[in-house]
Amino acid sequence: MNQILKRRALDRIKPYTPGKPLWEVKEELGLKQVIKLASNENPLGASPKAIEAISKILNELNRYPDANAVELKKTIASCLDVKTEQLIITNGADELITLISETYLEPSDEIIVPFPSFSEYDFGEQLMGAKVVPVPLDHEYQFNIESILAAVTEHTKLIYICSPNNPTGTYMPKLMLEELLHSLPKNILVVFDSAYSHFAANEDYTNGLEFVRSDYPIIVLQTFSKIYGLAGVRVGFGAAPESIIQSILHVKEPFNVNSLAQAAAAAAITDEEHVNHSKKVNTKGLEQLYNALTEFGIKYTKSMSNFILIEFGANAKEVYQQLLALGVIVRYGDIWGLPGHIRISIGTQEENTVLIEAISSILLELRLVNFKGEVK
Ligand SMILES: Cc1ncc(COP(=O)(O)O)c(C=O)c1O
Repeated sequence: MNQILKRRALDRIKPYTPGKPLWEVKEELGLKQVIKLASNENPLGASPKAIEAISKILNELNRYPDANAVELKKTIASCLDVKTEQLIITNGADELITLISETYLEPSDEIIVPFPSFSEYDFGEQLMGAKVVPVPLDHEYQFNIESILAAVTEHTKLIYICSPNNPTGTYMPKLMLEELLHSLPKNILVVFDSAYSHFAANEDYTNGLEFVRSDYPIIVLQTFSKIYGLAGVRVGFGAAPESIIQSILHVKEPFNVNSLAQAAAAAAITDEEHVNHSKKVNTKGLEQLYNALTEFGIKYTKSMSNFILIEFGANAKEVYQQLLALGVIVRYGDIWGLPGHIRISIGTQEENTVLIEAISSILLELRLVNFKGEVK
């Protein structure tokens, strides 16, 4: 046994709980057909243009990737009307959260995180030995600017805003973000995670980029894992005023994003057909699930994203386990402190139908609806 002490800060790190992989559930339960609606992936697959771009560079795998991802930055910059100097490309948005934490957090610093939200923000804080100040979301999981501002102290360094928020699907309207940016001291960085921005259709939604263009102290996080269907190759990016990007570049590994990911991302962001089709399928899928849940009398939160938070109350864990046994992987809410909830990603129409039938049979078995399908 060695006696090498690891950093004390690591004792507080809770391991990330990913959605169960398909192979594991198939193997554990001996099932042939399993569907995964647990990680908010694109059920249609990757952009075909991205697959083509990857296949074209397979014979260049002996070469290191471009450390500065120049081509990808140029493409993103022209698509999103930002400067290449305002971009950093990372190994998924997850890596960017770690890099932001490494860049800015001292052990005495505080980060404000509306609650419940994406767990990786806490990881960054734990890694650096800083302190999370959780601010509960309001009624129906809406953002409340007063409670966020009330949590600010002289130690606050970062404020995370996930919009649309994972796992609730609610969002921070543009005017509220503007007010927040105007109200905060200028030594606080707003980390605006708009990983699911493409699914957000309301007019008062912002993906935050307009505030980057206007030089506010904000960094916008985006990922290629969701609408672009590239979760497997790991690529995301941050957009922020140049001075913020320059600071974060100090802690970036030179070859953090592999060449297949760079090529795929550059192709995917220009693949409007794939993006538009994915949005349409998602909107229809949301409606399909809303209708079924309303029929079952099950409460849910209206979502601006590609997942829905559903309230099953005392039966939530049982419903989660029974869905798993029937070959439908979803996410149980206890990881967000929501033990009465399940988060379900929107799938294809066929997958949603399998899910709805599975929920229906479970509710019948739990005798929560009678055999005519009426809620008891
Ligand atoms: C809100 C949010 N931000 C960031 C990420 C991480 O994305 P990536 O796959 O690019 O690391 C996720 C993934 O689920 C997410 O839900």
